[in-house]
Amino acid sequence: MAEVVGGLGTSHVPAIGGAIAKGLQQDPYWKPFFDGLPPIRSWLAENRPDAVIIFYNDHGLNFFLDKLPTFAVGAAPFYHNADEGWGLPVQAPFRGVPDLSWHVIEHLVEREFDITTCQEMLVDHAFALPLQLFWPDGDAPPAVPIAINTVQHPLPSISRCLKLGRAVGEALASWRGCKRVAVIASGGLSHQLDGERAGFINKAFDQQFLDELEANPDALSRYSIHDVVELAGTQGVELLTWVAMRGAVSASSKRRHVNYHVPISNTAACQLLLAP
Ligand code: DHB
Ligand code: FE
Repeated sequence: MAEVVGGLGTSHVPAIGGAIAKGLQQDPYWKPFFDGLPPIRSWLAENRPDAVIIFYNDHGLNFFLDKLPTFAVGAAPFYHNADEGWGLPVQAPFRGVPDLSWHVIEHLVEREFDITTCQEMLVDHAFALPLQLFWPDGDAPPAVPIAINTVQHPLPSISRCLKLGRAVGEALASWRGCKRVAVIASGGLSHQLDGERAGFINKAFDQQFLDELEANPDALSRYSIHDVVELAGTQGVELLTWVAMRGAVSASSKRRHVNYHVPISNTAACQLLLAP
């Protein structure tokens, strides 16, 4: 039985990768964001997960509008990063955990989730940046990527993503391989990159979202996807990954650390640690 040691959330603005590549962590623009990381890194050093699940959204690198699964689970030994056009250095391949991936896949299908299984999958900034941020020395544990469609409507509902996370949590509870697993959410919080409301951020909604995510995630199901677009922006729907992460960690998990900073690029940036 694997222990879920905790859940971590972070925004994945591509420019963060540029700041890392240029060593700008202490620059006045970037410092408030990077200052949120040391408490998470210390917690990880103490809790030493030997695998991670990453709920993230692909932005057109592996899946495009012609074929876009609602939920896709990676089952590859390695995941390759590639140039997305943001000018970021391409990262070395990330290690997978195929046996844990297949265990999660089997459990999800048993629980009637019609997922897409990917034995080959390119991973974009949304997968790579959390690992770069949380393990800056490049020693991140191997990962199981779970992509949630936040790009092409119709998107899965909040309640569906919470159930997905809970089913992943069940799969981990019955896993006899590695002992300690952390669950990562990559995305959000509020942001809108395009259209008339480009630059839209909603601090009040984000704070309320974080409170409810911790204390009563089921209550978030009152928001339809259209409500989320209105309240958090067209790309703020990435908060679905945070909802899935919340479902996978123990219900009694509490906020151990949060750093909310507005804005990084066009995004209300946040790092969160939820742990029992
Ligand atoms: C930005 C945010 C994102 O989530 C993303 O995927 C790309 C860009 C931004 O704020 O610049
Ligand atoms: Fe994004």
